Amino acid sequence: MTAAADVIRARTVVRPSIGLVLGSGLGDFADRVEKAERFPYSTLPGYPGATVSSHRGELVVGEIAGVGVMVMAGRGHYYEHGDAAVMRTPIETMAALGCTAVILTNAAGGLERETPPGNLMLITDHINFAGTNPLFGEPTDKRFVGLSQAYDRGLMGHFRAAAAAEQVPLAEGVYMWFNGPSFETPAEIRAARILGANAVGMSTVPEVILARFFGLKVAAVSTITNYAAGMSNVELSHEDVKEMAPLGAEKLMRILPRVISAYGRG
Ligand code: HPA
Repeated sequence: MTAAADVIRARTVVRPSIGLVLGSGLGDFADRVEKAERFPYSTLPGYPGATVSSHRGELVVGEIAGVGVMVMAGRGHYYEHGDAAVMRTPIETMAALGCTAVILTNAAGGLERETPPGNLMLITDHINFAGTNPLFGEPTDKRFVGLSQAYDRGLMGHFRAAAAAEQVPLAEGVYMWFNGPSFETPAEIRAARILGANAVGMSTVPEVILARFFGLKVAAVSTITNYAAGMSNVELSHEDVKEMAPLGAEKLMRILPRVISAYGRG
């Protein structure tokens, strides 16, 4: 149990079964939550102060498609706090309140020409290239988390079905976690390609590890906001990421209620 879970439980009737973490451009999905109770992160002990301009910094607990959800509009990043475990309390709180799964979303740079900016990529596996881990310092043997099936097959199936129903193309691939906050160099992207990455980004992987640590099933989706460094003539910028994020987000927001509904029924 976390102190934040007590705060949330005291003010909510809905019992959530699935958590969501909304990345850049997806914050508006929090407005789709019905029977919503809102908690600014500043009111929740252990939640990160959100410093990224495209992130709202509030937790919304309620229902989507009749299923209890807790939706984080905005996350903490390693590059903001220098702490890979910055999302530990929020993920632990999802588990404490009864969630059995979490859906993670992010904005990412794409390495595949056939998946241009504006498209979605279902993350099927990841490469932790950040040299750190949110479980550093965890004293129990639970720290040796197995990640050979980190991304849940059932949830991936729900995403494929939902994307097909909405006629939204859904690429699949490997997400590689870079520390940030500077973007990658072209040489780093060439290395990432050789190592097997299809997209690169600065979040999500620590949350996947924490979610598996706390026993939650995981699904994760990237909205591709740009070609990765060196693949186009433009210099990368957060402004461009923010400008492009809504394109993919619009597609993802059509898919998510179907996925949540299917998970709630399953
Ligand atoms: N690199 C890392 N993170 C990102 C990118 C990128 O190109 N685009 C959006 N987030």
